[in-house]
Amino acid sequence: MSACPIQTRAIEASFYPISLDEIARRVARKNGKKAPVGKANGCPQSRFSFYSGAKLDNVKEIVNEFGERIIRVDGDIPVDLPISDGDRYLFISYDQTALTHGLHKYPAKFFPELPRWLVERYSSENETVLDPFSGSGTTSVEAQLLRRNSVGIDVDPFSRFLSRVKVTPLEEDELKYCQSYLLRQVVNYHHLKVSEEDIPTFPYRDSWFNKETVLELAYLRKSIVSLDTSDAAKNFLKICLSSIVRAVSNADDNCTRTVIRKKLNKRVYPAEALEKFAEVLLINIPKMIEFSQICPRDVRVDFPLDNDARDIKYPENYFDLAVTSPPYANAVDYPRTHQLETYWLGFADGSLTPLKKKHVGTETVLASDYRTLHKISIARADACISRIFSTDPRRAFIAYKYLDDMRSNLIEVYRVLKKGGKYVVVVGNNRIRGEVFENWKYMMEIAESVGFSVENYFGSEIINHFIKVPREERINTDWVVVLEK
Ligand SMILES: C[S@@+](CC[C@H](N)C(=O)[O-])C[C@H]1O[C@@H](n2cnc3c(N)ncnc32)[C@H](O)[C@@H]1O
Repeated sequence: MSACPIQTRAIEASFYPISLDEIARRVARKNGKKAPVGKANGCPQSRFSFYSGAKLDNVKEIVNEFGERIIRVDGDIPVDLPISDGDRYLFISYDQTALTHGLHKYPAKFFPELPRWLVERYSSENETVLDPFSGSGTTSVEAQLLRRNSVGIDVDPFSRFLSRVKVTPLEEDELKYCQSYLLRQVVNYHHLKVSEEDIPTFPYRDSWFNKETVLELAYLRKSIVSLDTSDAAKNFLKICLSSIVRAVSNADDNCTRTVIRKKLNKRVYPAEALEKFAEVLLINIPKMIEFSQICPRDVRVDFPLDNDARDIKYPENYFDLAVTSPPYANAVDYPRTHQLETYWLGFADGSLTPLKKKHVGTETVLASDYRTLHKISIARADACISRIFSTDPRRAFIAYKYLDDMRSNLIEVYRVLKKGGKYVVVVGNNRIRGEVFENWKYMMEIAESVGFSVENYFGSEIINHFIKVPREERINTDWVVVLEK
């Protein structure tokens, strides 16, 4: 199902009157709207003071509309915050787009303050931290800034590419050179500068994108590739380009799955990709410069190929700490979420099924797998899986397989952690076919069955997630489970 080649010469428009001044004003307005760093809502410290060990005083107890006691923490979480089993916290994050964290959207991303706190609390400088489901690499960025070595494992090539960019500091002069070159390219755009070989071929390309947009994206990608600069800088610029792909596609921007919703009547105008790219450069380059200025250069960060959360190719007792948020059962189809970005970055050009099969929580299962009921040997989980099986055997198998895969992950992390090392897992409950799937509770039981002890667990209320699943299947509280080897 490859898309037909685009007839570049059939397009009428010649060039667009793009005003860089207008784009710069728009960016300034956007930046102006943001809360000042570290000062919002009374949070007294700049975030950078955290990395130098400043004390924070930003914790208070509140009672929510249901009369429940919740501990609210604004900004950085004090390293010695007392925790008791079952406590619930409302963490207000100010750093979701700070430094390199905001370079690209990613579903169910950590808010940086959480891994920052866990890494600070449960490890020391120069130790090595693992995130076996590393996603967009939030744990690694925070570990790096706190001078810990780290390894982020993810089966998704897009995730590894994005994470690598987020931890790679760049020189200011190089970034400024790239910026001025690319902004010039934006204003000098002409569709005739794009040839057929610049345009990628992938399934349904011409439904996902308007013809003008395909040409503009191809032109921008070619401009990045032909820049006289380091590969590291080009990769950063490719991530900038990737970050606008969804917005300039015909797919819904606010849905994790990549879908075109006719009733949204989304319109993407000629020149929109060019303008958005210019805007993103003006936002992301200062962030990269800021990150590069505070990022230590002597810390190791790896995102190894051919690893899997269920098959971690590191020796026993290698890591001092592991911190992760695994996929939710039955909630996010990551390859489908990033499919357009994956195609434009050149990581795939056809079916995503082989990649989907590698994912924990995959929905790509065989009919022969779910003819019979499978059990995980955790009574509460099996009761839930049986109830799902009575209405939807396929979903029941997906839920079973998810827990079985998580068991493999827990066994692997137990093996590679040092004795006394913590494995902090952040998981949520969700509903599958109307049944509450109490993921974190099942996970604690499985963890104990493979040798971990549960040190404690507490809730983190979710207020701002880039996750859209049907209302009745929404996830409202993440549970943070601290395991010890
Ligand atoms: C909830 S996300 C992690 C988000 C991450 N905490 C962050 O801040 O960006 C879960 C990740 O698990 C990855 N994943 C799924 N199956 C995997 C597997 N078998 N091994 C390693 N990673 C996997 C997905 O690609 C996804 O990036």
